[in-house]
Amino acid sequence: MDPILVNEEKCVGCELCVKDCPSSYLYIENGKAHTNKGGCLECGHCYAVCPQGAITMAGYDCPEEAVFPMTEISSDKLLAAMKSRRTVRQFTDQAVEEEKIQKILEAGRYSPTGGNSQNVSYTILGSRQAEAESLCVELFRKGTSLPRRMKSVSERFNIPDNFFFKGAPLVIVVSSRSTVDAGLASSYMELMAESLGLGVLYSGFFVMCTRLSRKLRRLLSLPKGHKAMTCMVIGYPAVKYQRIVPRKPLKSKML
Ligand SMILES: Cc1cc2nc3c(=O)[nH]c(=O)nc-3n(C[C@H](O)[C@H](O)[C@H](O)COP(=O)(O)O)c2cc1C
Repeated sequence: MDPILVNEEKCVGCELCVKDCPSSYLYIENGKAHTNKGGCLECGHCYAVCPQGAITMAGYDCPEEAVFPMTEISSDKLLAAMKSRRTVRQFTDQAVEEEKIQKILEAGRYSPTGGNSQNVSYTILGSRQAEAESLCVELFRKGTSLPRRMKSVSERFNIPDNFFFKGAPLVIVVSSRSTVDAGLASSYMELMAESLGLGVLYSGFFVMCTRLSRKLRRLLSLPKGHKAMTCMVIGYPAVKYQRIVPRKPLKSKML
């Protein structure tokens, strides 16, 4: 089925869709936009750019949602907020409201993906959170099958029952075939979570455990071909930072 539907009565042949299409899927003939065969990324640029609203996408809801340019947000404030973001490792036990969870997931859904694959999935541990954490704790306490780097952690620290999720009420495992797509989605989600007054910890240790424990992978039952790429531990922070942290000097050059 052709994913792009052009309403010829509305189309004025302005070519904006043709110019913005990344895969040369559209062309103008007799003053109207038409579609080629195959190769459409379903990125929606033609839908978004058309001043006439002449395009719809088959298989997608096409609500008329107005754009909100990033320029509406002060860049100084945005940068200051980004620099003020901290990894949170102390949480209150206040639950995260459903509405906020949906906003965090929506931020992930709207992150860019290579080739517009949109192949990132979000698994909320929910009722299986305690079970998943205790599997990881057991793995770390035993230590036998751990790679060297993790072994040193498990030897150095006394691994408490809440070592992985720190008592946070919400854990989302972001999975994909692509590390980059999952990483970008996670970053979008993290910023959204922060703007909602929540704190986030990326549990890299949990992700490592998913590589080591078949039992844990079964519990997660991720989509076929997906790997857990990030594990986002989310809740209301029980810590407040007074200043922005120092960072190493910028590594950048102009060629
Ligand atoms: C991919 C990734 C995995 C991480 N895994 C862990 C983890 O398992 N445990 C932990 O305490 N912090 C973890 N962190 C947090 C980093 O230690 C933290 O980002 C870094 O110390 C800088 O602190 P900041 O985020 O407050 O700027 C992880 C961060 C990233 C990006």
